[in-house]
Formats: sequence, structure tokens, C-alpha cells
Amino acid sequence: MENGSEPATKPILQALAGTVLTPPPVWLMRQAGRYLPEYRRVRARVSGFLELCYTPELAVEVTLQPIRRFALDAAILFSDILVVPHALGMDVRFLEGEGPKLEPLRRPEDLAKLRPGELQERLRPVYETVAILARELPPEVALIGFSGAPWTLACYMLEGGGSKDWSTARRVALGEPDFFGRLIDLLTESVGEYLLSQIAHGAEVVQLFDSWAGVLPEAQVRRWVIEPARRIAERLREHAAAVPLIGFPRGIGPLYPAFVERVRPAGIGLDTTVPCGWAEAVLGPSAVTLQGNLDPVTLLVGGPPLAAAVAHIEETWRQRPRIFNLGHGILPQTPIKHVEALLSHLHSPGR
Ligand code: CP3
Repeated sequence: MENGSEPATKPILQALAGTVLTPPPVWLMRQAGRYLPEYRRVRARVSGFLELCYTPELAVEVTLQPIRRFALDAAILFSDILVVPHALGMDVRFLEGEGPKLEPLRRPEDLAKLRPGELQERLRPVYETVAILARELPPEVALIGFSGAPWTLACYMLEGGGSKDWSTARRVALGEPDFFGRLIDLLTESVGEYLLSQIAHGAEVVQLFDSWAGVLPEAQVRRWVIEPARRIAERLREHAAAVPLIGFPRGIGPLYPAFVERVRPAGIGLDTTVPCGWAEAVLGPSAVTLQGNLDPVTLLVGGPPLAAAVAHIEETWRQRPRIFNLGHGILPQTPIKHVEALLSHLHSPGR
């Protein structure tokens, strides 16, 4: 598939090019996953989660599952943000019920253990998944590629797994800026290369997930979240200008406008905590397409709170180019009926 020359006809691409569509195009973060019985069946066939990410036939299958079930406007490549540290040579495991575990980087010398030269070769199965999806998706459905952003990847690489407050990563960022800066530079390079390769294999949109951006104070957000995202966005503009980028610096609150101004992404993913009226007011003057921001817990609960929340977002953003989404990933206990209800509220409001 060629990107670039054909006009934007898929609704998500139109929205990212600045067209106001009502109803808006919609996809859901973590739309493939454990809330779907068909996902759990495929997951049970492999011993480890990474095996699922690196087996193109299975990754294609689980990417397509939500597309077969729901009227969604995009498929997101099935993979994980932690394939990048893994492809750089780190030991990464997903333990049942415990989340990811990595052998953490502890000191500057540990950077020499990372193997950026092997990244592309090790990520080849992911690119193959992208290429198959680009051929197999229904013509109106866009293919979204993604990567974790440098700060969030560095969090896992220094901490060795999930954390409540990411204190190790924050301490290194502030106290050892030379070590930390070299890690961020290496990740910024790797993420740029990774996204460009996904695009070369057929990704039509790319999203940069900075899930833990919200734990940093302002100066550090500017240095470790906004600046690396700006460099990645510039590289994409230089080598893949036709492919829109969606930034998702989760939790940065009042710094969202600074992110948009510096990075100039086509779309901005707003997290659950952002008031949509505020986003409309402060991001109004920029050309950015808004994406979000239904609370995943509201989707889990369903009923009148879900209907009200969808109506509120739509009412507030009706004059904006927008993409409807959650403000964070779908929760595994979410009833499938609630996803169906969300789509019918969106597609036939008032009924
Ligand atoms: O459907 C999609 O959105 C595409 C696939 C996708 C996954 N992870 C699949 C997955 C995407 C885009 C991600 C991104 C991701 N992974 C993020 C950024 C978004 C966010 O949620 O903030 C982060 C921080 C991760 C890291 C990660 N992966 C964690 C912390 C966990 C364990 C927690 C959990 O939910 O179990 C994962 C595992 C993971 N990634 C699963 C899935 C479907 C569940 C694992 C399983 O099925 O065994």
C-alpha cells in the first residue's frame, strides 16, 4: 500500500486533516484485549504475551477482532510499547496478573548493553503484521501504528516494571541528567525509526503513547516529554509528511497547549482528567484535531452515565475536527454491550 498520494477518504484521515465530521470517527484505546472472549481464546494458545506480539498471524487476528464486532473507524496494530526495550536487548517478561517485568538499567554503563543496531531486525515480525493488516483491512478502516514515547519507555527501563510514582525514573531524570539524556536520545532515535518503518509497511496514522508524562513537574515535562516528541514529529514530517501523528501525553493537564504548540501533531489525545470545554477553549485557536476522552470507568458502568458522558463530549466538541475515543485504555471487565451502546449513542444520538 502506498501512503501519501491519495486524498484522505477514510473518516479518521479526514478528521486528522481538519474536517469536522458528525458523527465523529471513533476507535478505542486497547480495543483489542481481554474484554473480548475471542481475544482470550487466542491468548490461551500462546505461552507468553510477547509471543502473541511477535507472531504476525496471531497479531493480525487479534487486531481484526474488534473491527469484525464493532463499527470502528480504525484498527490499531496489536503489539505493546515494551517491544522497543525488548528489541533493544532488554529482558522483558509479562507475568500473569503482575504486569511487565524488566531487568532494569541501573547505571550509565548499562546503556552499553542496549543494541540499537539490532532493533530493526528484531522488530521485523511487527512490520510484517503491519504489512498484512494494510492488505486485509476493510477499505474504510484506517490502520494506526504506535510506539511508547521515550519518557514512558525510560520509566519501565529504569524501574524494571510498573510503579505507583516512578520515583526511580524521576530521580535519575533530575539527578543524573547526562545518563538520562543519553537514554532519552537513544530512545528518541529508536522510536523515530520504529514509527517510520511502521509507516513504510502501511501504517496510515501513528500514535505516540506517553502514559506517564503526568508524573513530572513542568520543566521536566518540557525537557523529557515535549522535546523528544518534537524531534520525533520533525523526523516524521521530514520523511513521511502525509502520515498524521497523534500525541498522547497523558496527564500533563495545563501543559497540553505547550505540547501542541511545540510538537504540532495532527491530533492530540486528551486523557480522562481534561475538561472537554477547557480543551475546546485553549486548543481552539490551533488546528489540532481533538481525540478522546470518555472515562473508561464510565464505559464499564454503562447506562445513563455513559449516555450523558457521550452527549456531553459531543455537545462540547460538535464544531471541532475530532475523533471519539476513551481517555485511557478500555478496562478488561468492560461488558461488550456497553461498547455497542457507546457506538449507538454516537451514531444515532437521542435514541
Ligand atoms: O488494542 C490496542 O490498543 C493495541 C494493543 C496495545 C496493548 N498495549 C496490548 C496489551 C497497546 C497500544 C498497548 C500500549 C501500552 N502497553 C501502554 C500505553 C497505553 C496505556 O495503557 O497507558 C502501556 C503503558 C503498556 C504496558 C503494558 N502492557 C502493561 C502495563 C501491561 C500489563 C497490564 C495489563 O493490562 O495487563 C501490558 C500488557 C498488555 N498489552 C495486554 C494487552 C492486550 C494484556 C496482556 C495479556 O493479554 O496477557
